[in-house]
Amino acid sequence: MLEVAISELLDQRSKSWKDALSERAGRMRSSAIREMLKVTMQPDFIALAGGLPAPELFPIQEFKDACEHVLEHNGSTALQYGPTGGYPPLRELLATSMQKHGVAATPDNILITSGSQQALDLIGRLFIDPGDEILTDAPTYVGAIQAWQVYGPQFVTVPLDDDGMDPDRVEEALQNHRIKFMYVLPNFQNPAGTTIPYGRRQRLIELAGEYGALIVEDDPYGQLRFRGEDIPSLISMDGGNVIYLSTFSKILSPGIRLGWIVAPEEMIAHLVTAKQGADLHTNAFVQCVVREIVERGFIERHVPRLCAAYKERCDAMLAAAAEHFPPGVTWTHPQGGLFLWAQMPERIDVEDLLAAAIEEKVAFVPGTAFYPDGEGGRHSLRLNFSNARPEMIREGMQRLGQAMSRALE
Ligand SMILES: Cc1ncc(COP(=O)(O)O)c(C=O)c1O
Repeated sequence: MLEVAISELLDQRSKSWKDALSERAGRMRSSAIREMLKVTMQPDFIALAGGLPAPELFPIQEFKDACEHVLEHNGSTALQYGPTGGYPPLRELLATSMQKHGVAATPDNILITSGSQQALDLIGRLFIDPGDEILTDAPTYVGAIQAWQVYGPQFVTVPLDDDGMDPDRVEEALQNHRIKFMYVLPNFQNPAGTTIPYGRRQRLIELAGEYGALIVEDDPYGQLRFRGEDIPSLISMDGGNVIYLSTFSKILSPGIRLGWIVAPEEMIAHLVTAKQGADLHTNAFVQCVVREIVERGFIERHVPRLCAAYKERCDAMLAAAAEHFPPGVTWTHPQGGLFLWAQMPERIDVEDLLAAAIEEKVAFVPGTAFYPDGEGGRHSLRLNFSNARPEMIREGMQRLGQAMSRALE
């Protein structure tokens, strides 16, 4: 009796805070990938799901040395509140690095963020009113959907092909909608691993100018190219219309939560104001440490190692797909990054396949996670090749092939 009374009381209590939730909270969506990470933590599980970098390649010693150096020589800055725009010497280094890639950026064009994920949120705060139309490809990065959904936009989507976003489809969308900005993932797209060729990039820039839409260029993987030639970024083609995002997550470590935005100076000032309300500034100690690591030229030495390892893993995955996936399944051939995208015959539903795969102790992310409407991608899946070693990838793909064959029977 007493127990019932207590549970009723608790129920009423939880009702009262639930009643207080904002409308915005109702638009929040939990990430399927973050949820799945919980399942895949089990022993014997081969996770081809999350977007995790290879932990064996984390530069632990370099971080240790740089932390010591910073505390010894710059401790009072590193442990103090800092400017919202970011640690000035790091902004300078990033501006110089962007200049080397043909972007006319000064430190005033740079805002340091707590990962690119925060950059996406700040862009949402600054630009999206409920009902605004924004253009993404489909499938697209699930974290962008999650960041922007709370601001209540209408997602207008264009289907992805082997070369990423198709400018003809983009133009159609621009003619039929009032697009505020288009979200473009030019290099080794998450989730599909596709890359937008030079000609398409030029056309996207032209279209943005013609129709007065901004471009949000999200480029966390650009440096992780292990095949083919680098292609200029969109922002290097036209700085006026493009907000460029990148991050140290995939070239150093995601745990440090450090990214940056490049945008026109006046826009940076607005983004700084938005960021003040979010977290005052990004972790100052981490900024000092990363500046030290970058200054020592470590990234230039480290990136080729990452590319070599990810090429080996990607090749292992591609070979295993050819060997173990049943006929009728197709997949992309990435030139870099962390992911490939597989498409199954229409009669297989990806949720059923996931259940079968989990029984085989292997996980992937169902394609539906990457569609703003949650409807597309029912026959697709994203596979990650950066986190597991080649032998585990081969084993995982064999298990997945078995699950697919079962689902096809
Ligand atoms: C396309 C894309 N944008 C942004 C992010 C977020 O990166 P960060 O770790 O810098 O927040 C990711 C992470 O996987 C990503 O794939």
